[in-house]
Amino acid sequence: MRILVTGKNGQLGRSIHKLVNTDSKIDNNQSSNEFIFVGREELDLSSKSDINHYFDSNNKFDIIINCAAYTAVDKAEEEQELANQVNHLAVKQLAGIAKEQKAKLIYISTDYVFDGESDKPYLESDTPNPINVYGKTKLAGERTLQEIMPTNAIIIRTSWVYSEYGNNFVKTMLRLGKERDELNVVSDQIGSPTYATDLAGVILEIIDNKDYQDKDKPTEIYHYSNEGEISWYEFTQKIFKIAKIDCKVNPITTGQYPTSAQRPRNTLMNKDKITQTFNICEPRWKESLFDSYAKIESQKDLYEN
Ligand SMILES: NC(=O)c1ccc[n+]([C@@H]2O[C@H](COP(=O)([O-])OP(=O)(O)OC[C@H]3O[C@@H](n4cnc5c(N)ncnc54)[C@H](OP(=O)(O)O)[C@@H]3O)[C@@H](O)[C@H]2O)c1
Repeated sequence: MRILVTGKNGQLGRSIHKLVNTDSKIDNNQSSNEFIFVGREELDLSSKSDINHYFDSNNKFDIIINCAAYTAVDKAEEEQELANQVNHLAVKQLAGIAKEQKAKLIYISTDYVFDGESDKPYLESDTPNPINVYGKTKLAGERTLQEIMPTNAIIIRTSWVYSEYGNNFVKTMLRLGKERDELNVVSDQIGSPTYATDLAGVILEIIDNKDYQDKDKPTEIYHYSNEGEISWYEFTQKIFKIAKIDCKVNPITTGQYPTSAQRPRNTLMNKDKITQTFNICEPRWKESLFDSYAKIESQKDLYEN
């Protein structure tokens, strides 16, 4: 299979790249797969003509994994048009192209499609109600994909993604924890962290799944994150404990930490559907954080080497 992965310089794109190139189990399973990784330079999702040009000048793909996205949640409040273009209109275009090429499309979405007001973990069938521009544009991406591709697409909603790559909460806290004696962190937003390598592994397992490879399977939404629930405050405490950083962490409320974009209060997601459909087990967030810490801390980036 020819598999296109967009967003090659992002956390998830790089994590997929690393697994495809270094994990011997995946290499063996997927030796017949050809992965093509593209970044903004090759395929700029903010430009309709660039997208058309890229697909016109390349051979057909069997699967498109769209990891590229406008992910700057606060900045999206000002750059609404650009966020909508990348997260929604480009997805519309990709869906049309995938349909024409009879390719499958995997779209990564977010827990921020929900308003966070539920007291139990969100099911895929729960009604979304995004409260910020980023969430609205990602939901619009989901909806256009479902409309254009009622079959052959998968939407994976994930949350609180971190990795050894790029900017993310874990790396920011490790830096701030070493610079400061004390930090205030929001304690009334609850969710589940996701180590990008775990999500990358799940995506590779899905495309290797025989059932998934059947043509014309109805388009489905799945939730995936690491297992367990936590607040940003508790997550920070655990990061510092693992890293042996001596920095006092003070819990504060969302109201005490104003941001341009509103954040949902509780975005825990129920993951039974993905677990049962693809026979996947989600590592607990604590174990993933512990396992990934050395890679994150050393900031060793095999991608560059
Ligand atoms: N990060 C999270 O906490 C989180 C939470 C829930 C869901 N998600 C979703 O998970 C997916 C992967 O996220 P991530 O954490 O890997 O994001 P990321 O690290 O921010 O990477 C996003 C990538 O998209 C690329 N991109 C942005 N605009 C583009 C454009 N106009 N054309 C082409 N590429 C463009 C960026 O390119 P440059 O490197 O050139 O800027 C970047 O490499 C996204 O769909 C995101 O919405 C993320």
